[in-house]
Amino acid sequence: MERYSSISELQSRLDKETGGGATVGFVPTMGALHEGHLSLVALSRASCDVTAASIFVNPTQFNDREDYRRYPRSTERDCAMLRDAGCDIVFTPSEEEMYPAGQKATHTFDFGHLDKVMEGAFRPGHFDGVAQVVSRLFDIARPDKAFFGQKDFQQTAIIKAIVAELKLPIEIVVAPIVREAGGLAMSSRNVLLSDEQRAQAANISRALFDARTTAAAGGISPEELRRETERRINATPELAAEYVAIVDGATLLPVTEWSDAREIFACTAVRVGKTRLIDNVRLL
Ligand code: PAF
Repeated sequence: MERYSSISELQSRLDKETGGGATVGFVPTMGALHEGHLSLVALSRASCDVTAASIFVNPTQFNDREDYRRYPRSTERDCAMLRDAGCDIVFTPSEEEMYPAGQKATHTFDFGHLDKVMEGAFRPGHFDGVAQVVSRLFDIARPDKAFFGQKDFQQTAIIKAIVAELKLPIEIVVAPIVREAGGLAMSSRNVLLSDEQRAQAANISRALFDARTTAAAGGISPEELRRETERRINATPELAAEYVAIVDGATLLPVTEWSDAREIFACTAVRVGKTRLIDNVRLL
C-alpha cells in the first residue's frame, strides 16, 4: 500500500491510474478503524480497480473542542489495517494540507431541513464541516465511487445532496452497519467506553431492534413507539438518549403515521458517560 500526505502527489498517482482506464473507489475515514471501515474497503475492492482511503480527523466538523481532543487517533495501526485489507493507497493529510491558511470555502451548501433535524439540531455546524471536508476530498481524489456506512444515516443523505448539488460523477455506496457480537454498532468512539459502558451500550441496539419488532406487530403509533424506545434506552443506568426519532428514510422528517413513508427508520444519539454514540435501524 502506498501512503501520501501531499495532495499533488496523491493526485498524480491517481491520475496515472485513471489515465490508464482504472476506476477508483474511495473510502474517506477519520481513522480509529474497525470492521465497519474494512467492510467499505472490501466493497470498494469488489467493484473498483483501485481503492484509496483517507485518514483525517476533520476539525471543522466537531462542534465541541473536547470531543475533537478526545477523538481516538491511531494512524499507524490504521495504515496497517488498511494494508492488510488490500487497500492500495492511503491519504493522510495534515490540517495545513487540507485547509491552507487563507483558503476560503469554495461552496456554501443549502441542505434545507436535512441538516437541521437530529444530528444537525444537536451538533450545530457539524454538517457544514462534513460538507466542507467531503467536497474537498472528492475534489482531490475524484473517485468513481465513494463508500460510507449506514450508521451515519443522516451523513449519507447529506453526502448524496452534495454530489447532486455539485453534479459530481461519483456513485455513493452506502454499506450496512457492522455490529459487535452484543449488537453495539461499530464506531471509532467505542474504544472510549469502559467495559461496563460497552456492555450497557448494547442496550441501544436492543431497544432499536425491539422497536422494529413492535412496529411490525402494529397497534402502536410512531410517537408512542418513539417514546417507549427512548424510555427503554434511558432505563439503562449509563445511557442518556439525546434524541430518538422515527423518520421517513427519504426526507428524514418525523412520521406521524406508519403510512406516511415507504421506508421508516428509528434513529438515536445516546450519551454513554462522556461518549456520544449514534445508531439506527430500519423499522418498515
Ligand atoms: O464518517 C466519517 O468518518 C467522517 O464524517 C468523514 C465522512 C470521513 C468526513 O470527515
